[in-house]
Amino acid sequence: MKKLMATLLASSMLLAACGGAKTTETKPADTKPSTTAAAPAAGKPKIGVTIYKYDDNFMSFVRRSIEKNNATADLLMNDSQNDQGKQNEQVDTMISKGVKSLAINLVNPQGAATIIAKAKAANIPVIFFNKEPSQADLKSYDKAWYVGTNSSESGVMMGQIIIDSWKANPAWDKNKDGKIQYVMLKGEPGHPDAEARTKFSIEAVEKAGLKVEKLEEQTGMWDSVKGKELMDAWIAKHGDKIEYVVANNDGMALGAIQSLKANGYFKNNKFMPVVAVDAIPDALTQIKEGTMVGSVLNDAKNQGQATFDLALNVANGKAPIDGTKWKLGEDKAVRVPYLAITKANIAVAEEAYK
Ligand code: GAL
Ligand code: CA
Repeated sequence: MKKLMATLLASSMLLAACGGAKTTETKPADTKPSTTAAAPAAGKPKIGVTIYKYDDNFMSFVRRSIEKNNATADLLMNDSQNDQGKQNEQVDTMISKGVKSLAINLVNPQGAATIIAKAKAANIPVIFFNKEPSQADLKSYDKAWYVGTNSSESGVMMGQIIIDSWKANPAWDKNKDGKIQYVMLKGEPGHPDAEARTKFSIEAVEKAGLKVEKLEEQTGMWDSVKGKELMDAWIAKHGDKIEYVVANNDGMALGAIQSLKANGYFKNNKFMPVVAVDAIPDALTQIKEGTMVGSVLNDAKNQGQATFDLALNVANGKAPIDGTKWKLGEDKAVRVPYLAITKANIAVAEEAYK
């Protein structure tokens, strides 16, 4: 019955849209009795979503997870094309179209204040996701929350993969100096994930008593082409002196692996350990083939689902985690756990990206 109602409501809305019927842009009052003509809007609220750029490997999976819910909400999806100015305009447009909540993947982690000002003025709740705003920004608006991860956790887990693999493979210390000569492919500078992964991965390794020497650290902006270019340059400069490639995400690691392959690695006993974060399907293939030591599962499915669940609740005037399995911390954030992935438990990651 519920399903039938939903279908009827959906098709009547569709008809209205096709017929060019003017959508009412007056703010729908939550207190309206459910029997009035406003019922369809209440059944399938408009939710405005931005992704910082569609051309991002990991975010395409988060997006898919959000979009799977399009039967329960009218999703207005936006590609912000890595341009904060564009995203701000998209938010204006969505507000004028009458969205009841916003789900925002910021372009610039510092861009939250502008978005909050717009949302506040229109009294619309905002769920930020993936790029964590500062606590000051989040706490400046009682209708703002965050869905993401605990960034430092991914760094520590990546560190643990380095520790375990290094200890198990004494031959990887090619120059036998007892130190790991590594290169670091960093994500977007200032992005909490990039900063935390860079710092805590190496910190974990040092805490375990291993010695490290950083040969290079540069940003590849999460991008596989940039990862390849940097790795090309670093191999040209350091050659076999590099003993470990640490990447803030799989995208850049996949680019680095391409470069390594083109430079004769992964055959004739020439090997280079590579570790990263996300555990996207392309990286899982590399782990299976032995060209990647491991990755850290960044759970796109659950982050997308939590983002949607919260956005839907607040769009309907409910408390953000009402009736869901998510836990909200004092910091107004739902944090989905990471998981270290190697060949041994690869099935878990395969499941998470189905
Ligand atoms: C990270 C992810 C990266 C990239 C970034 C975008 O969590 O590991 O691959 O998608 O988010 O903000
Ligand atoms: Ca060494």
